[in-house]
Amino acid sequence: MVGFNQDLPGTDHFVMPATQHDAVVWISGASLEVVFDEARAALRALRSVAIVAEETVGWPYRRNRDLTGFEDGSENPTLIEAPGVALVPTPRAGAGGSILLLQKWRHFAARWEALPSSSQERVIGRTKPDSVELAPQPVDSHVARTDQDKFGKIFRRNVPYGTVTDHGTIFVGFCSSQRPFQRMLESMVGGDGGPPDALMRYTRPLTGAYYFVPSLDALRSLGPANEGERR
Ligand code: HEM
Repeated sequence: MVGFNQDLPGTDHFVMPATQHDAVVWISGASLEVVFDEARAALRALRSVAIVAEETVGWPYRRNRDLTGFEDGSENPTLIEAPGVALVPTPRAGAGGSILLLQKWRHFAARWEALPSSSQERVIGRTKPDSVELAPQPVDSHVARTDQDKFGKIFRRNVPYGTVTDHGTIFVGFCSSQRPFQRMLESMVGGDGGPPDALMRYTRPLTGAYYFVPSLDALRSLGPANEGERR
């Protein structure tokens, strides 16, 4: 696995920026006050070895929709299939862990909201109310440009972030290999000779980084000895 160390250039001077950092801490919880306290505790615990390069607060939106208003994750593998897609298999190095692509995308909300639903559907490649795949599929739709039958399967969980006037999507993708992500990103920017992803007329990435997420067993083995014994 390699970091997102170089900007990924696309057509029309468009660039996916590389903003690789050393590590990421993801804290998730139903209540912001719990997340806040845990995040402060994590900062204190890591104080001697790390400083914060970037932080983003995410929040859920209309159950499983992203801020385009479309259902997100429709083509995700089921939870039964997900480990086979997302986890590095034994005996490969890092078995049980996962490769994470984290990319923060700003939405141009006014431009997006000015589109009628039918045009938004052609950009995504699915219907808005019930997420049915369009047939025929526009060649530059987001679904066409990230087609998992072509590039390989990944497991996604997008998270909205931001304020009323400045917001977007944190793309969170997990995979057992880095290759599908790289191929999808190249396809989205039009780097494979195809049209750029239509979604990029309405959103732009601000960050891009890959991280290795160790398995729970691997994490546990790094903790204090008595942590393991208590389980
Ligand atoms: C602003 C950023 C993004 C938004 C708002 C977004 C939103 C969506 C939506 C609404 C769908 C259709 C429903 C679904 O199957 O989940 C979708 C599909 C998908 N997206 Fe994204 N996405 C974003 C970025 C990305 C990125 C960066 C990647 C890959 C690196 C990606 C990979 C995929 C894949 C693999 C699918 C399913 C394609 C298929 O049908 O096989 N998305 N996305």
